[in-house]
Amino acid sequence: MAPLLSVEHVTRTFGGLVALDDVSLAVDGGQIAGLIGPNGAGKTTAFNVITRLYKPDAGRVVFDSRDLLRSRPHKVVGLGVARTFQNVVLFPLMTVLENVLVGTHSRRRVFSERAARSDAEEALSYLGLQALGPRPAAGLPFGTLKRIELARALASHPRLLLLDEPAGGLNHEEVDELGALIRRIRADYDLTILLVEHHVNLVMSISDRVHVLNFGQKIAEGTPAEVRANPAVIEAYLGTADAAA
Ligand SMILES: Nc1ncnc2c1ncn2[C@@H]1O[C@H](COP(=O)(O)OP(=O)(O)OP(=O)(O)O)[C@@H](O)[C@H]1O
Ligand SMILES: [Mg+2]
Repeated sequence: MAPLLSVEHVTRTFGGLVALDDVSLAVDGGQIAGLIGPNGAGKTTAFNVITRLYKPDAGRVVFDSRDLLRSRPHKVVGLGVARTFQNVVLFPLMTVLENVLVGTHSRRRVFSERAARSDAEEALSYLGLQALGPRPAAGLPFGTLKRIELARALASHPRLLLLDEPAGGLNHEEVDELGALIRRIRADYDLTILLVEHHVNLVMSISDRVHVLNFGQKIAEGTPAEVRANPAVIEAYLGTADAAA
């Protein structure tokens, strides 16, 4: 069966800097796939290419047999691709519920305010955030903001969810809980997940497959055990990563 997401030979440069260098990776439907590598390796750039924020210099992105680069950028969420951002992108003056409603608005073909609201409320309560719905997003702790972004992504009923450092702002215990939550989300929302995280133990414990970038190049791919044992990955990343995290 064709993978749900296929990134094929993607290159993206910024001036003279090559952020992604002929990178290919495929994610099968239902997988949790980890995408790891050192700072500046190109992980967020890969997300930005997949979600059409950045146009690649070369290569293709195929989602559910459709060439995403031929789809209009604002249609990507509607096709079933949702994400969270490394640095949180929310509207601070809007309420938490309004922020989550943004996710439903980009998704629904036939727009119904009541259905959108119920999707947003459901996503908030799924993540234990219902009490925060009426208050403005501004001033909430970073970990909570990341969870609101996750609610916004879920409220759009994606098929593919891209998580960029979801453990940001969490303590050790919360990171463990996040691992269980991501697995639960995959099951409850019938999702495929591509996960970027520096908490290597989290990635290794929940991923079916792990892809490794280093200086824009894909240096390894395999099961978590294979990747952990890969000398090139140890040299480029694992030797220095926060392995205790
Ligand atoms: N908009 C941009 N303009 C210029 N350079 C950029 C831009 N976005 C990314 N880069 C550069 O591309 C390279 C890859 O960055 P990217 O953010 O994808 O790395 P990353 O793997 O997500 O790193 P981190 O783990 O620190 O988040 C870096 O050298 C970065 O400075
Ligand atoms: Mg990043």
